[in-house]
Amino acid sequence: MSDPVQLSLDDGVATITIDRPDRLNALDGATLAAVDDALETAREDARAVVVTGAGEKAFAAGADIERMSEMGVEAAEAYCRQGHAVMNAIETFPAPVIAAVNGYAFGGGCELALACDFRVASERAVIGQTEIDLGIVPGWGGTQRLVRLVGDETARRLVMFGERIDASDAYEAGLVGEVVAHDDLAAHADEMARELAAKPRFAMAAAKEALNQAHEMGQREGLDFERRTWSSLFGTDDQREGMAAFLEDREPDFA
Ligand code: COA
Repeated sequence: MSDPVQLSLDDGVATITIDRPDRLNALDGATLAAVDDALETAREDARAVVVTGAGEKAFAAGADIERMSEMGVEAAEAYCRQGHAVMNAIETFPAPVIAAVNGYAFGGGCELALACDFRVASERAVIGQTEIDLGIVPGWGGTQRLVRLVGDETARRLVMFGERIDASDAYEAGLVGEVVAHDDLAAHADEMARELAAKPRFAMAAAKEALNQAHEMGQREGLDFERRTWSSLFGTDDQREGMAAFLEDREPDFA
């Protein structure tokens, strides 16, 4: 059987491609495990990551419905835990992750995009939390991350109606940050990743961690976290180089 996920690493940019186009990149257990492995392999060298789907039609058409149709409560709980672990690994990955949404992103595919730092959609993308029509609910973070991203009303519309919305409606809803021509998507996401990869690594990881805490902590606690994060960067190569470059009127060169 061919590998369900491809990983390429080039100059600090990792590209993770879900590669089951005949199943519209549905995320079965083996594919989730392969995403996890790819993140682990990339962890040391990647300074930015792009996640996308193989083929012309889908980013990921969700969790694998054929597999789920045979599950009982115990197997479902294990699949849910596995999905949560992979989405959390993306969310806490120490470099920014961009979802290049190249087509259908339904159910678990939408949740995969939600776990990323940025969502850029092809104008052909169609997105939705469609689980309600399968008799279930989002189970890989959709009930939580979607509310935080688009607000309660829009999240309820998506989850309760199971609506499938196109890229421009997703942009209007704040579900994706940008829509680009389909043929430009890969190059655009790669360009974003390269720009992010050239930024200071420790400061970038710290920024991501602190921004994530805004969803986890109350503001007072979050500000304490910010103070510790901010001051811990002083004395790092990132801080010395960034400030020296400004004072010397040159471009910074972050190692
Ligand atoms: N899990 C497992 N298999 C899936 C799948 C999923 N989530 N989504 C699509 N597939 C399979 C189809 O069963 C089909 O298999 P087959 O060739 O053996 O018949 C193949 O992928 C192609 O899909 P198909 O439905 O024929 O393509 P389409 O272009 O007509 O429709 C979609 C595409 C995405 C609109 C449709 O497949 C769909 O609605 N999928 C389910 C989306 C969903 O609810 N996901 C949430 C899961 S949590």
